[in-house]
Amino acid sequence: MIQILVTGGNGQLAQCLKSLSENYKNYQFTFFSREDFNIVNEEEVKRVLKSKNFSFCINCAAFTNVDNCELNNEAPDLVNNKGVKYLATACKENNVKLVHVSTDFVFDGNQSIPYKETDKTNPLGVYGTTKLLGEEAVQNTCDAFYILRTSWLYSEFGNNFLKTMLRLSETRPELGVVFDQVGTPTYAKDLASIILTIIKEDNDAFGIYHYSNEGVASWYDFAIAIFSLKNINTKVLPIRSEQYPTPATRPSYSVFDKQKIKDVFNVTLPHWRTSLEACLQNV
Ligand SMILES: NC(=O)c1ccc[n+]([C@@H]2O[C@H](COP(=O)([O-])OP(=O)(O)OC[C@H]3O[C@@H](n4cnc5c(N)ncnc54)[C@H](OP(=O)(O)O)[C@@H]3O)[C@@H](O)[C@H]2O)c1
Repeated sequence: MIQILVTGGNGQLAQCLKSLSENYKNYQFTFFSREDFNIVNEEEVKRVLKSKNFSFCINCAAFTNVDNCELNNEAPDLVNNKGVKYLATACKENNVKLVHVSTDFVFDGNQSIPYKETDKTNPLGVYGTTKLLGEEAVQNTCDAFYILRTSWLYSEFGNNFLKTMLRLSETRPELGVVFDQVGTPTYAKDLASIILTIIKEDNDAFGIYHYSNEGVASWYDFAIAIFSLKNINTKVLPIRSEQYPTPATRPSYSVFDKQKIKDVFNVTLPHWRTSLEACLQNV
């Protein structure tokens, strides 16, 4: 059995991995919640990575509340940077390949063509900054790593934009949603699936990869699609970001160029609308 360690086991990506992992009979997955395995505890990281003959570690643990990151720099830095460094170090010491997940928020959004892996990073806030430091920690510490940058994750699990829209629609006849931030919604189950493909291929094509669903949307477009597919009558009003002020500034454009992952792993990626329909079957 190939042993796989998954951190952040209660998060939406880890739960998607859990639901797909049942089809992977030759692999034994160990999912750790934050209570069982806190990645900011260096000794615990060393002990857990040594405890079994893991071949892969999938790091789904992160401080993901982008606005809270602006209110408290220390906690996100511990999880998204220092904890990742501890994991990368322990992975290297124990010969474990690390699959680490990062974000479109490492970019400033000033580009108007899809971002490639080689494009210049320039995070706008604490979340993106700490996630970028985490990427650098991985790259500077171990050789056997896959960093998957992804964007606008949603699923039937956890808290996300899709769930928020469905909840608000129960009480609100109309909602303002920003139209001047453009990216690609990504079903976390599709990301989980590509992670499992990478592990199955095990081709040592280490490096950074961009992964999202296909297509382009604003949050406004995404909300409209959710309500139309669910036959919800809540009216969606297009608003500008300045009309919905938040502690964190978000990139206005964060569409990914995904050619590298398609070429290296020979995969086709579903369009965001197709995946939204699939997810809504499970919500
Ligand atoms: N969500 C998005 O829109 C988005 C977009 C781009 C990239 N990403 C990246 O995708 C990855 C997965 O995100 P997600 O949406 O699945 O996030 P999520 O649902 O917030 O899950 C993150 C998990 O990490 C756990 N965690 C936090 N601190 C920890 C620590 N010190 N030790 C161990 N576990 C810890 C959390 O535990 P608790 O459950 O106890 O809080 C939570 O279960 C993250 O790397 C994130 O940065 C997310």
